Amino acid sequence: GMQTAARLMKVYLTRRIPQEGMKILSAAGVCEVSLWDSDEPVPRAELLRGVQGAHGLLCLLSDKIDAEVLDAAGPNLKVISTLSVGFDHLALDEIKKRGIRVGYTPDVLTDATAELTVALLLATARRLPEGVEEVKNGGWSSWKPLWLCGYGLSGSTVGVIGLGRIGMAIARRLMPFGVKRLLYSGRTAKAYAAEVNGEFVPLDTLVSESDFIVVSCSLTPETQGLCDKVFFSKMKNTAVFVNSSRGSVVNQEDLYDALTSGQIAAAGLDVTTPEPLPTNHPLLTLKNCVVLPHIGSATYSTRGVMAALSANNLLGGLQGTDMPSELTV
Ligand code: NDP
Ligand code: DGY
Repeated sequence: GMQTAARLMKVYLTRRIPQEGMKILSAAGVCEVSLWDSDEPVPRAELLRGVQGAHGLLCLLSDKIDAEVLDAAGPNLKVISTLSVGFDHLALDEIKKRGIRVGYTPDVLTDATAELTVALLLATARRLPEGVEEVKNGGWSSWKPLWLCGYGLSGSTVGVIGLGRIGMAIARRLMPFGVKRLLYSGRTAKAYAAEVNGEFVPLDTLVSESDFIVVSCSLTPETQGLCDKVFFSKMKNTAVFVNSSRGSVVNQEDLYDALTSGQIAAAGLDVTTPEPLPTNHPLLTLKNCVVLPHIGSATYSTRGVMAALSANNLLGGLQGTDMPSELTV
């Protein structure tokens, strides 16, 4: 009735999310949900309108949550729950200043993202999209000794930039392919790297000695534009570059130059700037560049678990209790 409705806290969802999350929100009976009822991103003006007076906000990585959004929400806002592990789209300083708690989705997407990254690495190194295309367009004339040759993991050196949850899961999956050395770089050495015989090395060493470079760090002011002209110039001409972190870690003009000049062999990107990458983007004209539409965590079960976790984070924040995955940095 009216009295119950008045006590319900208001939450705003910036998108339709998997039913696993919606069920949890409705079963809790503590919030009234309004959402941008679409599979496409909420227009900025709609977000600023929809969030007004909300106690809780559930957002996606495509929503920039900055001072303007927080001001539009107003003083009720207690919690922001993002359906992602990455949080570079959240202005954390502004959020913390207002005492708002933040939930995110670490761990539950690690396996799916690592699996996709390995798939992208192999597809890029062994030129799978090119091969599939040749079969369809008649380019397959015969078995030829050097046609569609690429690079293999066996006996190789792999460099992981950012040996976090996902980076480590990638390393674990790559070692059984016969990788000889596993290098990694980051801010600190990790004890758990011993499991993959990981060697903590300066970035320069990783870049110049690796046959495969996998970027799996978070996007921060420090990693923004990390992979630039100088970076690519230090790579082996036979090396393969893979990025499944965030597009902005890479300077795409410099990557284009490195791929066209033969400075590096190939690149596989699950993330770009912007997203979507315009269909006329120069990178898409290159056979040695494989671009995927940010599908690292895209398995049905993972997305369901992410939705459930983000709903439970939201509820914890609304009720002032523990959140299963609270961002405390
Ligand atoms: P973690 O926090 O576990 O790992 C992030 C790693 O980044 C840390 O190990 C950290 O290492 C490293 N890092 C931070 N700064 C630097 C730096 N300056 N140089 C090198 N490494 C650095 O996060 P996850 O592994 O769970 O996720 C990583 C990222 O992957 C997310 O932030 C997100 O952007 C992206 N992602 C992409 C997906 C996709 O669909 N493609 C899916 C899921 C996540 P250290 O502690 O030494 O600083
Ligand atoms: C994340 O969670 O940060 C990914 O980019 C999408 O799952």
